[in-house]
Amino acid sequence: MIGLDKNMEKIRSSEITPEHVYLSRRRLLRFGLLGAASLGLTACGGQIGEMLTGTAKEADLASDMFSPDKRDELGDPANSFRVISNYNNYYEFTLDKEAVARLAANFKAEPWKVTVDGLVRNPRTYDLDDLRRKFDQEERIYRLRCVEGWSMVIPWLGFPLAKLLREVEPTSEARYVRFVSLYDPDQYPNQRGLTFYPWPYTEGLRIDEAMHDLTLLVTGLYGKPLPNSNGAPLRLAVPWKYGFKSIKAIVKIELVAEQPKTLWNTMAPHEYGFYSNVNPNRPHPRWSQATERRIGEPGRRPTLMFNGYAEQVASLYAGMDLMANY
Ligand code: MTE
Repeated sequence: MIGLDKNMEKIRSSEITPEHVYLSRRRLLRFGLLGAASLGLTACGGQIGEMLTGTAKEADLASDMFSPDKRDELGDPANSFRVISNYNNYYEFTLDKEAVARLAANFKAEPWKVTVDGLVRNPRTYDLDDLRRKFDQEERIYRLRCVEGWSMVIPWLGFPLAKLLREVEPTSEARYVRFVSLYDPDQYPNQRGLTFYPWPYTEGLRIDEAMHDLTLLVTGLYGKPLPNSNGAPLRLAVPWKYGFKSIKAIVKIELVAEQPKTLWNTMAPHEYGFYSNVNPNRPHPRWSQATERRIGEPGRRPTLMFNGYAEQVASLYAGMDLMANY
């Protein structure tokens, strides 16, 4: 999980690799299943856990981790649907990545409405069919780099947020975009249980970041509707930023003049800046960001500046100190 302030929740030294994962990794290492071990999906009794601790051969495991027919522009294979939808961060349900899919199984993602308002000329409320009909859905194979130090390659289905924003016509005062996730304690146990979180989950982008062609409103995965565990029915994918910026289950998009408060920036401002662009040179206060664990791959690989999207987005930050905690 994303680390919390000491007085909010005890932070273990095994923050990035939770202890139970670390222990089961050691167990798997004994069986020579290094690749599987690096997945860190071994602790629970779910299908993936059973498979990893069972008799499966490494080759089978590799094919369960990746779909080599889909690759990102750097040539790396996409993680499998199964992995992407069973290893999640979704704090409204649980802090246990491997339990999200099960707890989210009955989430009611339909009917769904998203309101786009604030500093715009044409405020609108859309349902999912409106969005699917109005905006051509395209596949984008993006890397997702979590601030905790792991990454995946994910074939999202969606459309550029810019298309939606153009339709509502932001006014000249609009400088930021604020995103709000669903607030529904009846569906999300942790909105009742973790009362010190400033629910609902909120995020924000500067307007030029929101208008950038890479910024995707996501409705699906592998050509299918978005699984509940990945933020059904509508989430953001901002691939050059740490994963927590890619907010799930969006119900409101608001154009605002001031930099909006976000959940993580409110909870731990010294750890989670508003910008939070992927930057291997700027360590998190409690761990290095120089390398990452690609889920399904042995060992660690170097983290790329802006998660490998520097050519497209570095100019957005010209003149800004990239080592500052933005
Ligand atoms: N959005 C909401 N509403 N709640 C969350 O807990 N977690 C974030 C982000 N969006 C989160 C969220 C984090 S920390 C990450 S890394 C990504 O979602 C994970 O997306 P995934 O589970 O689809 O891989």
